[in-house]
Amino acid sequence: MSHKYWQDMAVYQIYPKSFYDSNGDGIGDLRGIIEKLDYIAELGVDMIWSSPFFLSPWADGGYDVADYRSIDPQFGTMEDFDELIAGIHSRGMKFMMDFVGNHTSDEHVWFMEALSDRQSPYHDYYIFRKGRNGGEPSNWASIFGGSAWEYVPSLDEYYLHLFAKKQPDLNWENPRVVKEVIDILEKKKKKGVDGYRLDAINYLYKDPSFPDVEPMEGSRYGFATEHYANKPRIHDHFKRLHDEVMEKHGLTTVAEVAYLDEETARGYADPSRGELDALYPFDLLNIDQEGYDKFAPVPFELPRLKKALAHWQSVMHDHGWLALFIGNHDQPRALSRFGDEKSYPSRSAKLLANAMYFLQGTPYIYQGDELGMTNPHYSSLDQFRDVEALNALSDGLRRGESSEHWLDLLNRRSRDCGTAPISWTDGENAGFSSGKPWMDVCSNYREINAEIEEKDPDSVLSFYKRLLRIRKGLHSVIYGETVFLELEDPDLLIYERRYKNEILISINNFSGKERIYRLPDDLCGADLLISNLGEPRFDPGSQMLSLRPWEAITFIKNKITDPNE
Ligand code: GLC
Ligand code: CA
Repeated sequence: MSHKYWQDMAVYQIYPKSFYDSNGDGIGDLRGIIEKLDYIAELGVDMIWSSPFFLSPWADGGYDVADYRSIDPQFGTMEDFDELIAGIHSRGMKFMMDFVGNHTSDEHVWFMEALSDRQSPYHDYYIFRKGRNGGEPSNWASIFGGSAWEYVPSLDEYYLHLFAKKQPDLNWENPRVVKEVIDILEKKKKKGVDGYRLDAINYLYKDPSFPDVEPMEGSRYGFATEHYANKPRIHDHFKRLHDEVMEKHGLTTVAEVAYLDEETARGYADPSRGELDALYPFDLLNIDQEGYDKFAPVPFELPRLKKALAHWQSVMHDHGWLALFIGNHDQPRALSRFGDEKSYPSRSAKLLANAMYFLQGTPYIYQGDELGMTNPHYSSLDQFRDVEALNALSDGLRRGESSEHWLDLLNRRSRDCGTAPISWTDGENAGFSSGKPWMDVCSNYREINAEIEEKDPDSVLSFYKRLLRIRKGLHSVIYGETVFLELEDPDLLIYERRYKNEILISINNFSGKERIYRLPDDLCGADLLISNLGEPRFDPGSQMLSLRPWEAITFIKNKITDPNE
């Protein structure tokens, strides 16, 4: 595969509402990001991706856009946006915009026009159907709970919403919709955007016959993913966006995708096809739940994570490019979920970075993970804000489940766990805002915050900085194949990366136990690249490594120093 600039970069994801509030109204904003640009640049990332900050009634955290061309006033102005982009570029970084193209807000003018009159040209911008047998056109479930159809009495029709009912799906079979999208993307390019993260983009094409599906237990509705995710026709849309926008303007893309097999994944991302640059397969983290249901958790078992990672590494090697992530605004905090936040918070937060970011792909660091932030552990149900959580809660209470059960569940599984405000200092409101934050801050902000960590060479933040600096330019990391070792071991996550003579091995003890591991023979004489506990306990004679609880070590041998090799 020929080398592209984005193959050796790292991305920092911002969820703007919770990042930093510059004016004391309790809401993170664009000027807040501008004030923290040095912090982000010093971390050593090359690109910033921000979740949406466009005009939105905020029914789904800004992923319900009412106007792609206006900045939502709670975040600032178009001038702030311009200044933000300039500030990013002047620090040598790039900006990736989140583009929500599967749906708009129901408050978008297109949808309002669509509702006003069946003859309106905008009616066909969305997916309307007549009811069947006195009910919805099909029994498809919304991803956020309940039906995926909403009835409009004035039209005597239903519209499709795969997500919240305030997020009607756009009709990509209408060429005018595609033209509008292209126009929006091109205008943003003129503003200085360098790339796009394409939201929920593998859902663009829906089977127009809308067949009924197997209902879920205790419900009329069922998951219809097979009828709307990754349908073959979608390649045409990707190709068109690539040819007419992305390639033409030198923009890079990462596509949020899910539920796809190996062949489809390669079909999307194989560079020879010219569709998408990289995939962000968000279901990779569905390893501690039953099927599609994030509120049906199962205990985390390391082999499942290893197998999911090994699968994606092999699918994409030489056939595309992968985003490497361990958390985002849709997930609980990685440390609370996969690490040991009680006994070894700092060590296990560093281990997660070591385990993840020497794989092949582009590291995506979700705001606050570089500080080792945890879930906020709220004490009351009214502290939760997210539509997915609140819908699931009301369904659960309706089924007669207890509020204690749901408090525990939301504290472990909800998206709110990852969108609590960033802990900047040990001061009031964790230094996030001088006013009352729109969401309560994490109670551990006195111990875990950016101000303390910036001064501490042994902090999680310092570890991230070190790791990102060290990772850059390593041939085995950029090009090498990934081979997982000890795949069935319940505690150890170990993989090798090899390119020409260079060999790298990342060793991670995901447990509170001491473990002995014998380094493979061909790594004899390897150098320490990074570790989370200083000098490893290693006996060169026997090649035996005694790993301490949550110890993470990466070694390298025959490091290639000539960049052209
Ligand atoms: C993506 C986003 C998520 C949003 C959904 C609908 O999965 O990451 O936050 O709710 O798309 O836009
Ligand atoms: Ca603000």
